[in-house]
Amino acid sequence: MTRQDIKYTRYYAEVMRMLTSHGLLVGSYDAAGKANLMTIGWGAIGSLWGVPLWTILVRPSRYTYRCIEHTGCFTVNVPTERLAMSCAVCGSKSGRDTDKFAACNLTAEKGRTVLAPTVAEFPLVYECQVVHSNDILPARLADEIMSGAYMDGDFHRVYFGKILSVRAAPDADELLRQTGA
Ligand SMILES: Cc1cc2nc3c(=O)[nH]c(=O)nc-3n(C[C@H](O)[C@H](O)[C@H](O)COP(=O)(O)O)c2cc1C
Repeated sequence: MTRQDIKYTRYYAEVMRMLTSHGLLVGSYDAAGKANLMTIGWGAIGSLWGVPLWTILVRPSRYTYRCIEHTGCFTVNVPTERLAMSCAVCGSKSGRDTDKFAACNLTAEKGRTVLAPTVAEFPLVYECQVVHSNDILPARLADEIMSGAYMDGDFHRVYFGKILSVRAAPDADELLRQTGA
């Protein structure tokens, strides 16, 4: 899909709506170069250290964790409502034993600036290079978050990904503003 470069803050509201409804897809490559996708429901776009960033949380049990540790890169891919069912598949199957691009009938495209795949069919893609990571510290976590998110441990690693590229399809305005209603 032909896309154009846009500012990282454009479509903020639409991206947050999709993140908190169906989810977004994080793309990464494993050590063998196989492309993988994982659904995220938590994340933030922002500016830290004067750098535009996607901050995402990945549990060590995820295959994606191993991939990002290996490459130091990831992409964030925003689906349309029509393609959002892929979030259910990519949020329940693991790249350890499933080719999720094939399972969802999606096409992996090489990132332009990072060693991570983007989803060709999606209207908006971010390419990110990890500039910092740290782990959630149980001792410094509010009780309400601990009981809601970490009953089984598996404390997330927080990845701060510098946004190197943001590209949108020409019809992203229309596609991203459609709702499932
Ligand atoms: C809506 C939704 C949101 C999710 N958000 C996250 C998240 O933010 N971080 C995370 O580690 N796992 C999250 N998951 C779980 C992973 O997507 C899931 O475990 C996936 O199968 C991991 O794939 P992988 O093993 O190929 O990395 C979410 C799942 C769903 C369905």
